[in-house]
Amino acid sequence: MKIFLDTANIDEIRRFHNMGLLDGITTNPSLLFREGQNPDYIMEEIASMVSGDVSLEVVATKYEEMVREGTELHDKGNNVVVKVPMTPDGLRACRTLSSNNIPVNVTLIFSANQAVLAAKSGAKYVSPFIGRLDDIGHDGMDLIRTILEIFGNYDFDTQVLVASIRHPLHVVEAARLGAHVVTLPPQVLDKMLKHPLTDIGLKSFLSDWRLLQKSQK
Ligand code: G3P
Repeated sequence: MKIFLDTANIDEIRRFHNMGLLDGITTNPSLLFREGQNPDYIMEEIASMVSGDVSLEVVATKYEEMVREGTELHDKGNNVVVKVPMTPDGLRACRTLSSNNIPVNVTLIFSANQAVLAAKSGAKYVSPFIGRLDDIGHDGMDLIRTILEIFGNYDFDTQVLVASIRHPLHVVEAARLGAHVVTLPPQVLDKMLKHPLTDIGLKSFLSDWRLLQKSQK
């Protein structure tokens, strides 16, 4: 399972990149807005810092504009995957960009039928938003299970990128189902690293080591 970081914060990306944990990055206009800096600068920095796939999202809503904007975004780096929304124009742009060898991530997926249409339009990734489904009382993980089953039935090459992840248990469940990618907010990746028994155990090892050193004097 690949691990992407879901952020436009360069410091957070650098922190986890230096640990060697990142297979890629996903961003969206809201994440860029949160940083309050020039979005072009941020997108270029991210694309050059990480060698894996970096999803950058178009804000155009019409087919021709999406293709033009997506092509420009891809010019920021060979690793740039163009994110388009799950709309009729988005799917048409997905088909065109994919045939031009520009990989596409179809975002804002909330049903298995949407995922099938995106896969048939040539998407490299589909991004089902599981947390937002959980928020309205649906079972986001059940959607992941269904999409994986359908893609397996037909040998689609499209990868399931589990998005809108809220907590570490979402990651375990996605991995158990065999999802191809999870994209994580930095705080979820931080929580995955931690366990209180690790901290307690380390403290006790170091304290015993100090006592041993004293006893040898
Ligand atoms: O990658 C999409 C993701 O950022 C959406 O997450 O938490 O805004 O639902 P959220």
